[in-house]
Amino acid sequence: MDTPSRPALDDDHRRMLDDLRAGLPVKDSAFDRLFPEPIRRVSSRFWTPVVVARKAARLLAAGGGPVIDVGAGVGKLVVIGGLTTDVAFDGVEQRGGLVDVGNAVIDAIGLSRVRMLQGTLDDVDWDRYRAFYFCNPFEENLFPEARRFDDSVPLTEARFVEETARVEAALDAAPVGTRVVTFHGLGARVPATYRLCPEETRGTAFLNLWIKEQEGSSGGEGVFDGYIVGR
Ligand SMILES: C[S@@+](CC[C@H](N)C(=O)[O-])C[C@H]1O[C@@H](n2cnc3c(N)ncnc32)[C@H](O)[C@@H]1O
Repeated sequence: MDTPSRPALDDDHRRMLDDLRAGLPVKDSAFDRLFPEPIRRVSSRFWTPVVVARKAARLLAAGGGPVIDVGAGVGKLVVIGGLTTDVAFDGVEQRGGLVDVGNAVIDAIGLSRVRMLQGTLDDVDWDRYRAFYFCNPFEENLFPEARRFDDSVPLTEARFVEETARVEAALDAAPVGTRVVTFHGLGARVPATYRLCPEETRGTAFLNLWIKEQEGSSGGEGVFDGYIVGR
C-alpha cells in the first residue's frame, strides 16, 4: 500500500467529530468515512464499533494514561479515545499499511496525544502503560484463510499460543491498578490478581473490564477471557 495522503475533512466529517466530542450519537458509517473504502468495507468484522470504542476509552482512561491498544488495526479506538478523553492513547499494529492510514487520520484531525506505531508484542513497553485494550487480536491466527484480513503477516496456531502466553505473563507482572479492557475476548487467561468488573460494562455485549487489585504474581492462576467463536 502506498503511504496514504492525509484525508481532507469535509463538513460532514467535522460535524461527526463535533458530535463525538459532545457525546452525541455517531454512526459507524459516518465515522468510517475517515478511512479509504477497502478499510470501511471490513469495519464490522475487524474494527471496534463507535459506541463500544467510546465506552472502552472511558473505562481505560479512568485510571489515568497512557493507554495502549495492542493490535490497533486502523486506529479506531485510539482516535476515539483521543477525541473523548484527556489521556494519551498509543496503538501498536503489525500491518504497516493500517498504521499509515491511522496516522494520516490522526494528523488530519490534529490529535496530539494519539499515535499509531508499527510493531508487534516485541515493541510494546509494558511498563509504560496504565491500561491495555485488546479487541480479540490473536484469534486471526486461528482463522481459515478466507476469513483473514490479508496474508501480509505470518498467522499460525503456534504464534497464537506464543503471543497469548506472553500477554498473560506481561499482565501478571503489571502493577496494581492496571486496567485491561477486552472486546470479543483476549483469547488468554487474565491473571487471578485481576477483578472482573461487570457492573461497568453492563449493556455492552462482549466488552469486559478487568482491574488488577492484588500485589504480586498469580502463580499461573487465571480466568480465560474469550469468545473463540468468531463473529
Ligand atoms: C480485530 S482487529 C482490532 C483492531 C482495533 N484494535 C480496533 O479495535 O478497531 C486486530 C488487529 O490486531 C493486529 N494484531 C494481531 N496480532 C498482533 C500482534 N502480535 N502485534 C501487533 N498487531 C497485531 C491485527 O493485524 C489486526 O489489525
